[in-house]
Amino acid sequence: MFEKSGLFAANGGWVTFQMDKFVIDGGHPLHGKVKISGAKNSTLPMLAACLLTEEPCIIHNVPHLDDVDFMLEILQSLGASVERQGTTVRIQSAKITPFGDYNLIRKMRGSICILGPLVGRLGEATVSMPGGCVIGTRPIDLHLKGLRALGTRIEVESGYVHAKAIKLRGNEIFLGGRSGPTVLGTINVMMAACLAEGRTVIDCAACEPEVVDVARFLEAMGAKIEGIGSPSLIIHGVDRLGGAEYSVIPDRIEAATFALAAAVTDGEVFMEDADLQHLSAVADKMQEAGCELVRSENGFLARRGKLLQSVDITTQPHPGFPTDAQAQMMVFMTLIPGISIITERIFESRFMHVNELIRLGADISIEGPSAIVKGGKKLSGAPVMASDLRASAALVLAGLAARGRTEVSRVYHIDRGYEKIDAKLEALGGRIERVSV
Ligand code: EPZ
Repeated sequence: MFEKSGLFAANGGWVTFQMDKFVIDGGHPLHGKVKISGAKNSTLPMLAACLLTEEPCIIHNVPHLDDVDFMLEILQSLGASVERQGTTVRIQSAKITPFGDYNLIRKMRGSICILGPLVGRLGEATVSMPGGCVIGTRPIDLHLKGLRALGTRIEVESGYVHAKAIKLRGNEIFLGGRSGPTVLGTINVMMAACLAEGRTVIDCAACEPEVVDVARFLEAMGAKIEGIGSPSLIIHGVDRLGGAEYSVIPDRIEAATFALAAAVTDGEVFMEDADLQHLSAVADKMQEAGCELVRSENGFLARRGKLLQSVDITTQPHPGFPTDAQAQMMVFMTLIPGISIITERIFESRFMHVNELIRLGADISIEGPSAIVKGGKKLSGAPVMASDLRASAALVLAGLAARGRTEVSRVYHIDRGYEKIDAKLEALGGRIERVSV
């Protein structure tokens, strides 16, 4: 059923980034149905969780994304066998080493979630400190706090995290940081705790649907976890975990991005396979702003209503408004007459898209953690530059809404987290072309 994929060369060679750009002819409403892919932020930690067992794991609905390719290369560099057929991946970590490839790991923040599984399975791990990125410093102090609480000795030197544990023991851990829970920190500690001796309580655990998804996968592997989806997780350690077969939930942030693409182009789009329940805060604010969102059993429809209303938003941990939809929502706000305010409370510098939106004619000013959007003006096309994953998606939405031609350069940022976004938008009537430069 699986053929060996040549994509993951054993030497873990550098993936060269095409400096592609998108050329967008804006002003055309999007109409139709788009299939939402599997969630990137479930997939990355779930792939790492396969390190917890020597048995084969089969994961379905795995999106085709550069970040997923990176993670699969990292698993291979640790000794795991990786096979892929379409959106199904088969991983077996029969014999693995505790040493992660420095060059691979530091390229992607999500790679930090191999730390917990390696410590849980092997009792040791040496991984590079994950890169920060334009949206913030991205510390891992809470990850390390949780693993230390389980009995791991941690040293950080010359860019590496060295972790060692004779035997992990359950503990009661408060994992809240200055801006609340940590998504990958919760997942990392939860994965290690599955193989610790005794009971672990994680208080102030993240409740994102992706955390729930990984916890369900761990349960399928034989883990004993209570309080899934709540801020208090209780993990009863087991001696070993087995293989499992599982399907990743749909990507709620991709769904939010396409719902907002419908809103900014005054179109109507059905997000197939999306679960509106994962996006209640986004749905609430879009409806308050004047959009109509209609749920059905296999997705939801989004369209702009007749009368638009300015809104105020603060990003918060789930179930609050997700920081990953902040930039995309801001584009919609630029079109709504009146003053809208969006306050970013999760990351310290997640307004990289603002200057580029101003280049397209938006009227936005920054006051500390808030962006004040004076909306109602038409955007007009211009060349803009992508800076990070969600900011880049926002620039594509702005280009689709703007009059005339917009060029979004450095779209490799988008390819990290959106599967074929240009093809999906084109199928909805968007005039977007990928040009290699
Ligand atoms: C995950 O990152 C997501 N990435 C991010 O999505 C998402 O924005 C973020 O959660 C918040 O929802 C993946 O799942 C791969 P955090 P994560 O730890 O886990 C601070 C996207 O666009 N913090 O929940 O790294 C941190 O600085 C990406 O898909 C500490 O202080 O984020 C931030 O202010 C971007 N110490 C806050 O907590 C720590 O040890 C939340 O970060 C860890 C985090």
